[in-house]
Amino acid sequence: MIQGILLIGGSGFIGGHVARRLAARGLRVTVATRRRERAKHLFTLPTVEVVEADVHDDAALARLCAGQDAVVNLVGVLKGGNGNPFGPGFARAHVELPGRVARAAWAANIPTLAHMSALKAAADAPSGYLRSKAAGENAVRTAFPHATIFRPSVVFGDGDSFLTMFARLLKYAPIMPLASPEARFQPVWVGNVADAIVESLLRPEAEGKTFELCGPHEYSLRELVEFTGRVTGRRRLVVGLSPLLSWLQALALEVVGGPMTRDNLRSMSVPNVCEAGCTLPFNLAPAALEDVAPRYLARPSR
Ligand SMILES: NC(=O)c1ccc[n+]([C@@H]2O[C@H](COP(=O)([O-])OP(=O)(O)OC[C@H]3O[C@@H](n4cnc5c(N)ncnc54)[C@H](OP(=O)(O)O)[C@@H]3O)[C@@H](O)[C@H]2O)c1
Repeated sequence: MIQGILLIGGSGFIGGHVARRLAARGLRVTVATRRRERAKHLFTLPTVEVVEADVHDDAALARLCAGQDAVVNLVGVLKGGNGNPFGPGFARAHVELPGRVARAAWAANIPTLAHMSALKAAADAPSGYLRSKAAGENAVRTAFPHATIFRPSVVFGDGDSFLTMFARLLKYAPIMPLASPEARFQPVWVGNVADAIVESLLRPEAEGKTFELCGPHEYSLRELVEFTGRVTGRRRLVVGLSPLLSWLQALALEVVGGPMTRDNLRSMSVPNVCEAGCTLPFNLAPAALEDVAPRYLARPSR
């Protein structure tokens, strides 16, 4: 019977939804963050304790693991620098840290580990992000063979950075020059993702499985941006960029620290869709983008 859960990466978008669900079940949650302030939206949740810690330190991880019944690792970065097979930021957050977390959980005799990867993670994927996610899965499986691994497509919901970023860009841009407009996605609702993670902690049959998480429909990036424009009342001309112009835009944004890198562009060259269609474990009912997104995208603050 699970009572205490260590949530690493719990201060982020998906982590907040997971923490709220665990707290609603009366489970004790320890959210480990590098900066307590980052998790201030969780301070008021009953049964949730936010702890500032260096999760890259083995001794700190051992202390965090003591007395826990499950560990959830949600740490991820979209910018990890360049390098072969992946940049140093990806190596640290997606490979070294998951290995450390898995070893610490195993050493502490914690029975359950859930690890967040990404759809289309593969050693021969075109981006450092996806290659490092694959290497992270291997590191987890090596140290903790019966871990449960999740591979979502792009995740949408209140607090997301994907559609919300486009809503903000559309507010100011008279036209939207869009890189990789035909990139394919199968967005999955954060509530479904959080439910899948929480259920996996409670169900023995989830042990050792890898779950792909996709929503009910596929879209091109252009369709998603146009949908965001309609929902927010910011209909703009979306101008799809050629591969060369997409690359130049990504390079320029990478140099100025903008919202995209060339590595992100390479990730988008693989269709981010589930081959098996809409896939959610545990009989979860998939939520459609059209039903959920208008509720948070249409808020004036977006
Ligand atoms: N959102 C999506 O569409 C999507 C799609 C596929 C896969 N995923 C994966 O799902 C996971 C959660 O995504 P999210 O959207 O919730 O991310 P997020 O909002 O950016 O949160 C990321 C979390 O990771 C922690 N973190 C970041 N860099 C770290 C580092 N170098 N060392 C230690 N901790 C670090 C942050 O914690 P502190 O800053 O508080 O320490 C934060 O809590 C990630 O693994 C991501 O790759 C997300």
